[in-house]
Amino acid sequence: MKSKALAHSNIALIKYWGKKDPKLFLPWNSSVSMTLDRLYTVTEVEFSPEFKEDTIIVNGEKLEGEKKEKVVRHLNLIRHIGKTDLKARVVSENNFPFGAGLASSASAFAALTLAATSALGLELSKKELSIISRQGSGSSCRSIYGGFVEWKAGNISEESYAEQIAPKEHWDVRDVIAIVQKEEKKVSSRAGMAQTVETCPFFMKRVEEVGKYLPKLIKAILDKDFKTLGEITEFDCLSMHATMLTTKPMLLYWSPETVRIIKEVVSWREEGIEAYFTVDAGPNVHVITLPEYVKEVEKRLSEIQGVKEVISCGIGDDTKVI
Ligand code: DP6
Repeated sequence: MKSKALAHSNIALIKYWGKKDPKLFLPWNSSVSMTLDRLYTVTEVEFSPEFKEDTIIVNGEKLEGEKKEKVVRHLNLIRHIGKTDLKARVVSENNFPFGAGLASSASAFAALTLAATSALGLELSKKELSIISRQGSGSSCRSIYGGFVEWKAGNISEESYAEQIAPKEHWDVRDVIAIVQKEEKKVSSRAGMAQTVETCPFFMKRVEEVGKYLPKLIKAILDKDFKTLGEITEFDCLSMHATMLTTKPMLLYWSPETVRIIKEVVSWREEGIEAYFTVDAGPNVHVITLPEYVKEVEKRLSEIQGVKEVISCGIGDDTKVI
């Protein structure tokens, strides 16, 4: 009763920020992402009658407290589906900085979902895996698929799942990430988005606007229209951060370096470099670009004061058993 899975992280081009149902992880708006090849999690799960309790080891460290609870809650959901009460040993390795706004929870919960369900011998469709993974961490439901992915918000649990828009072979889009801070953020996405829904007076306006431009982004992906993809990606990022900034108390995830990079990326476009920024709940900046500009973007990012590391990603594959 043992299985190992590999899942890639993803970067949202249209962000998920806000739950309509926090227990079921139903989001207020649908979101769109691309799966990232270079950032991934490998997780092994074993169930055994010999285990007295769940043990969770991430990057060599045994989890305790709230972090362990999040994983145990997800194991409980999977045990319920698999009709077992066996305890598990989970060993997980991320190949990227933990909690740096690089969405490690997306790849972590996608890998955990597939490894745990296959260790129990459950044969589930990708749609079912996505529905289960969503309830561990929302953004992880998109990582079940490679390529370009939409998470359809839905109104009930069975309607809220990810679907592939196009596989990775469709279009070679890159994400060059400028890491300016590796430490874990002070306010988690989970806590932050709950505060935004509760206190931001503009939140529902954002949800309404996403509904208008999401179909345009999907069309841009299918048509390989990079300018439209970039413009929608930047606007959506700014729209999400606008709701964060107008949350009480204020959620300001950016650092001075974040602003510096954003301004640079905008000015590079005037020189003909097709590159657009997006930022998650953290200070690191993702620069979405095309293969021909990657070298130049990497060089320019690494020359900016405060950039600690540059990680270049292409598009990744589905979550799979290895
Ligand atoms: C800003 O999926 O980490 O990265 O569902 O509470 O686990 P929970 O939140 P999480 O939030 C991700 C927020 C984001 C945007 C996105 O990836 O869509």
